[in-house]
Amino acid sequence: MRHDTKPVWWHPTGVNQIDAVRLVLQPICLPVARMLLVGETPQGLRFAPGYPSRFTHDVMESVLEARGPGRFGPYFMIRKTDGMIVGEIGCSVEDVYTMGKVGYSVVEPCWGQGYATEALRALLGYVLAEPDMRRVVAETMVDHVASRRVMEKAGMTYCGERLDDEYGELVNLVVYEAFAHRTVPTR
Ligand SMILES: CC(C)(COP(=O)(O)OP(=O)(O)OC[C@H]1O[C@@H](n2cnc3c(N)ncnc32)[C@H](O)[C@@H]1OP(=O)(O)O)[C@@H](O)C(=O)NCCC(=O)NCCS
Repeated sequence: MRHDTKPVWWHPTGVNQIDAVRLVLQPICLPVARMLLVGETPQGLRFAPGYPSRFTHDVMESVLEARGPGRFGPYFMIRKTDGMIVGEIGCSVEDVYTMGKVGYSVVEPCWGQGYATEALRALLGYVLAEPDMRRVVAETMVDHVASRRVMEKAGMTYCGERLDDEYGELVNLVVYEAFAHRTVPTR
């Protein structure tokens, strides 16, 4: 798998925006997350039909908890042609500081157009180009074919399954991973 570093540029939050082919990944700033959580519409942002999704609330909560976006988001997926927000994506850095974990969501009317794949590819390229980041994982329900397909198309590989407790129910999750490919000095 190649991890091309996409062009990035500075954003007022101090977290880089990432270019993702038809999308731009724009960090979600704290005031915007606050407004969305109370059902207000932030000025200057345009939301595609279907927004917010049922995942938006958790994404905004995470921004609130962290008091802003982290090093790798979460980001809005913004469609370049019309400036509409079609989803969210982010990568949290796990306890082992060299590992990230990605999550993403696209509004339902925009499913099947390749947006999640483009966003994930770009984010993986960006995260794994960082010198300290070695591995990124993604998890989804075993039978969530669309999400698994996104991971595979973005170049991630299957690495196993695990049981997890979600809202008091045991669910079977599948885990995919991607690695930074670096030349390791031999001496
Ligand atoms: C999963 C999700 C992000 C996919 O977004 P998307 O923009 O539609 O994804 P893409 O268009 O890039 O790719 C979807 C792929 O899954 C395939 N797919 C979708 N539903 C499928 C199904 N039921 N069976 C088989 N393949 C399916 C599509 O055909 C496409 O593959 P292809 O390009 O080879 O044809 C979107 O459905 C979503 O937001 N779901 C709710 C949130 C979620 O589940 N997030 C993932 C948690 S980690």
